[in-house]
Amino acid sequence: MVDYDDRQYAVYAEGRALHPDAAGLWAETFTRWAPPHRPLDVLDLGSGTGRFSPLLADLFGGAVHAVEPSERMRQVASATAPHERVSYREGSAGHIPLPDASCDLALLFLSFHHVPDRARAAAELARVLRPGGRVLLRSAFGDRIPDLLWHRYFPSARAVEERMFPALPDVLAGFAAAGLRRAGFERLREPMAAGLREYARRIRLRAISTFEYLDADETEAGIARLDAAAAAETDPAPVVADADLLILERRD
Ligand SMILES: C[S@@+](CC[C@H](N)C(=O)[O-])C[C@H]1O[C@@H](n2cnc3c(N)ncnc32)[C@H](O)[C@@H]1O
Repeated sequence: MVDYDDRQYAVYAEGRALHPDAAGLWAETFTRWAPPHRPLDVLDLGSGTGRFSPLLADLFGGAVHAVEPSERMRQVASATAPHERVSYREGSAGHIPLPDASCDLALLFLSFHHVPDRARAAAELARVLRPGGRVLLRSAFGDRIPDLLWHRYFPSARAVEERMFPALPDVLAGFAAAGLRRAGFERLREPMAAGLREYARRIRLRAISTFEYLDADETEAGIARLDAAAAAETDPAPVVADADLLILERRD
C-alpha cells in the first residue's frame, strides 16, 4: 500500500511531469475514446496532483470532478493545477462523492492498482456514469507487463509489477459484473524523457509505485548504474515506454 501523504506528494509533480509530447498523445487518445457529444462531465478518479484534470476540462468543456483520497496530493493539485471548471474533492474509488448518473467519462490514470476493493470501485463507477458513459483505465496489467527501461536497472521491478497490477481478465470480469463492458484496448508508446540524463533525474525521485516495494540496496545500486549510463550517453535518445489503456462502457 503506497501512502501518497507520506513522501510521494512532495516528489510526484516533478517526478511524473508529462513530457510535452505525452500531453498531446494523451489529449488525442482521450478525445478519440470519449463519447462524441459535448460538453462532457468528467470524473478524474485518483486525480493526484491534478496532472490531467485541467486538460480534461479544456478538452471536454464540462465539469471535472477530481476525486483523490490523499489530502496532500489534493493540496498540491489545488495550488498548482487550478481551473475554473475543476473541483478537487476528497473521496476514493470505493466512495465517489457524486450522485448517480452524473458523469459522461471517468479517467483512472495509474490509480486503479491502489484500490483495495476493485469490485466496489467498478460498482461505484457504473453508478456515477450515465448510460453510454465511458471509463478510460490507464493501468499496467499483471499478466502483460511491458518491457520498461527501469527493469534493466532494478532487477526485482518486473516481479513487483506482476504482483502489484491486476491481471487484465480479472479486471474485465470485475467491470462486466458491474455492467461495464470492454469498448477498446490500446498499447501506446508514451514519450518519457529526452534522454538518459533527464530519465535518471526523474527515477532518482522515485515517484513510481514500483520503487516503494524495492529494498534500499537494490534501489541505490540501480540508480548508480543508471547514473553511470546517463553520464556515458553522448548522443541522447528519447526514452519511450509502453502504456496500456483499457476503455469500458456503460451500455444501458
Ligand atoms: C500514481 S498516482 C496517479 C495520479 C494521477 N492520476 C496522475 O496520473 O498523475 C495514484 C493516485 O491514486 C490515488 N489513490 C490511492 N488509493 C485510491 C483509491 N482507493 N481511490 C482513488 N484513488 C486512489 C493516490 O492517492 C494517488 O494520488
